[in-house]
Amino acid sequence: MFFGVRSNRLIYTQTLTIVDASPLWLARSLLRPSGSEQAAMIKMRDMRLNMFPLSIDQFYVKFVLSKRDNWDSFRTQHPRLFRSLYLGYRLYKGSRYLQYHRIYSRFSNFTMIPRWGYVANLALCDQFRHVRGAVVECGTWKGGMIAGIATLFKDDRDYYLFDSFEGLPIAQDIDKDWRSQPAKTWQANSNHNCRAEESFAQRAMLLSRARNVHIIKGWFNTTLPKYGGQPIAILRADGDWYESTMDILTNLYPYVVKGGLIILDDYYYWEGCAKAVHDFLSRNQLADRIYQFNNGYPGLIKNGSSALAN
Ligand SMILES: C[S@@+](CC[C@H](N)C(=O)[O-])C[C@H]1O[C@@H](n2cnc3c(N)ncnc32)[C@H](O)[C@@H]1O
Repeated sequence: MFFGVRSNRLIYTQTLTIVDASPLWLARSLLRPSGSEQAAMIKMRDMRLNMFPLSIDQFYVKFVLSKRDNWDSFRTQHPRLFRSLYLGYRLYKGSRYLQYHRIYSRFSNFTMIPRWGYVANLALCDQFRHVRGAVVECGTWKGGMIAGIATLFKDDRDYYLFDSFEGLPIAQDIDKDWRSQPAKTWQANSNHNCRAEESFAQRAMLLSRARNVHIIKGWFNTTLPKYGGQPIAILRADGDWYESTMDILTNLYPYVVKGGLIILDDYYYWEGCAKAVHDFLSRNQLADRIYQFNNGYPGLIKNGSSALAN
């Protein structure tokens, strides 16, 4: 029943917060919800935004919430259904995570993102796989992250890789790490400055078997304004510095489809990145919220907040 109903495309929803909750938390909070959890659930139940079709997680939440009003009687009347629903969900999630780990093992030599972050990225992208559009990564280094996403999706969409392939540009005063240590110091002491040959990214994308791959070499401020590509479903911003992040958002945000995902890889680590995100949002009067997705991964859902107000 779980998977059968999922194919019913009549139900559309967007459940932003609870989708990211662990199934355990979800089950616990549904069985014995606290006051704030109840409030969140009621809000969520009222959010029928017609934004994008359900993913498995959203279906699970939606299904459970739809039974919320008579939850106690539902649980007592259908204990087996409840158990199999939950078990099915756990099995499904477990098998997905095995796949994410396998993909990481294939591309670990092509990415500097550690395993937990890589897996969290894949889990997050998986939730947005139904959004139509290209996948774009700005700041690819050896291409391992976007190659992993392409391996996961196994589809015909376009994959764009933007990088100087000469390393990071010179850091500015605004660029500091999370302890407010200047990025300039880090850069002066770094012997690689995130430099990687383009051939690595080519190899990673070959390994992913993606067909529509576009590798665009050069500095963001010259390459990104020329992006004339398709609408973007997933944009990974991984350029570290203020200017790089601002270039990415200024040039590519307009191409991201409503409900599309923007991953802000450096938001918590580099202050410049966080400031660029805040400046960009306020400069453009955007109310998009910054979410902490799986395992704390930061990002935006385009127009997520204005849609919430509907
Ligand atoms: C932290 S690395 C990216 C890591 C990569 N996503 C991975 O999976 O390992 C940052 C990359 O951004 C690129 N980059 C940063 N700012 C740039 C800019 N303004 N123009 C072009 N490339 C830039 C650097 O060349 C570097 O490869």
